[in-house]
Amino acid sequence: MATLVLTITETLRYRGKIGQWSWALHRIAGLGTLLFLFLHVIDTSWAVFYPELYKEAIRQYQSPLFTVGEFALVACVVYHALNGFRIVIFDWRPKWWSKQADAARLVMLGTIIILVPTFVLMFTHVLDHYRISGFNLYLQEIISTQSKFAAGVVAVLVIGIAVSAVYSLLPGVNQPKHGHTSQIDKFIWTFMRVSGILIIPLVLGHLAMMHVIQGVFDITTAGVTPVGATAVAGSAANMSGTAPEFVALRWNTMFAGVFIWRIYDVGLLILAVIHGFSGLRYVVNDYAHNIVINRGMNIAILATAIGLIVIGGLAILNTIPTDTVRMLEQTTQAIR
Ligand code: HEM
Ligand code: HEM
Repeated sequence: MATLVLTITETLRYRGKIGQWSWALHRIAGLGTLLFLFLHVIDTSWAVFYPELYKEAIRQYQSPLFTVGEFALVACVVYHALNGFRIVIFDWRPKWWSKQADAARLVMLGTIIILVPTFVLMFTHVLDHYRISGFNLYLQEIISTQSKFAAGVVAVLVIGIAVSAVYSLLPGVNQPKHGHTSQIDKFIWTFMRVSGILIIPLVLGHLAMMHVIQGVFDITTAGVTPVGATAVAGSAANMSGTAPEFVALRWNTMFAGVFIWRIYDVGLLILAVIHGFSGLRYVVNDYAHNIVINRGMNIAILATAIGLIVIGGLAILNTIPTDTVRMLEQTTQAIR
């Protein structure tokens, strides 16, 4: 804890070069995106397992508080992606290191150049939505839902630390194992770079579909064809305007004989979750030096990452509930 406070105060106090700010921004942006991803994978799985809960989650996502959060999320993803690309390039070609500062400035400039038109487009979606549906904060509902997520995180952490404390009673387990750990760390270091590059087109493509071409508000707009959904069970892809239906239409869309968006989302899920939680592990290892706490947090990280991949994967593999699809077919027949 003392190390964390020291890092924050020193980052603010130290009038360091641009590299210091790039490091801090990269970390904040990565952690911000990870927090969103954690909520998002659980919420999205509700589209399959608890459609009513998913409708409620999307209603909250369309509130002004989350709208501000979405702008921040897009900024985090764009900056982290460009800066991550810079890190990969300079790790690959260390002889270019003298150009680090220029490259860091270029990343900041590139982020602004991408964000300005993106924010303008997103803002038009926002204005259209609030003009029609009014301005409701849904503050109580949001606090009630998000506090359950927070309680879940605390519970996983407490269980992880308790397991670690029990494990530490075994003889010899509290000695650092240098050789073994460094092999794993070497692998994770390479994975962070390879996965980062693979995530760039996947996450930017996903955000372009969900934020620029269509907005989060189109998820519940009647008559809209979800982006990338062309045909579902032989019927035209027009929505009656429920959020689970939007997901059903995308996940049931076939292209060249395959469920294209399910494959896309599985790739994004596995890469982003493993990359993001490995990144969180770096952060934890920087600040939590007590061996029992550190191991407990690492157990919690591993359990959460596995849990998310299982929940998200099962949702993607599962057939979307037939009543959702039936509801869709009835609507399209009514429209005809
Ligand atoms: C968009 C493409 C992405 C690229 C190119 C990228 C690249 C990178 C790189 C190169 C690192 C540094 C690894 C190291 O220091 O060894 C990193 C760290 C990190 N990334 Fe990403 N990443 C991307 C997406 C994501 C996503 C989607 C998340 C969240 C789910 C995320 C979360 C993190 C976190 C938490 C860290 C640790 C930060 C730190 O140690 O300060 N990244 N990323
Ligand atoms: C607020 C911005 C976002 C919106 C509105 C959004 C919307 C959606 C929707 C509607 C789905 C359902 C499936 C589909 O239509 O493809 C989905 C799935 C998914 N999204 Fe996003 N998304 C956003 C941002 C992100 C970001 C930044 C990431 C990665 C860091 C991400 C990762 C995923 C993953 C992994 C899935 C599959 C989830 C599962 O299997 O449960 N999304 N998203």
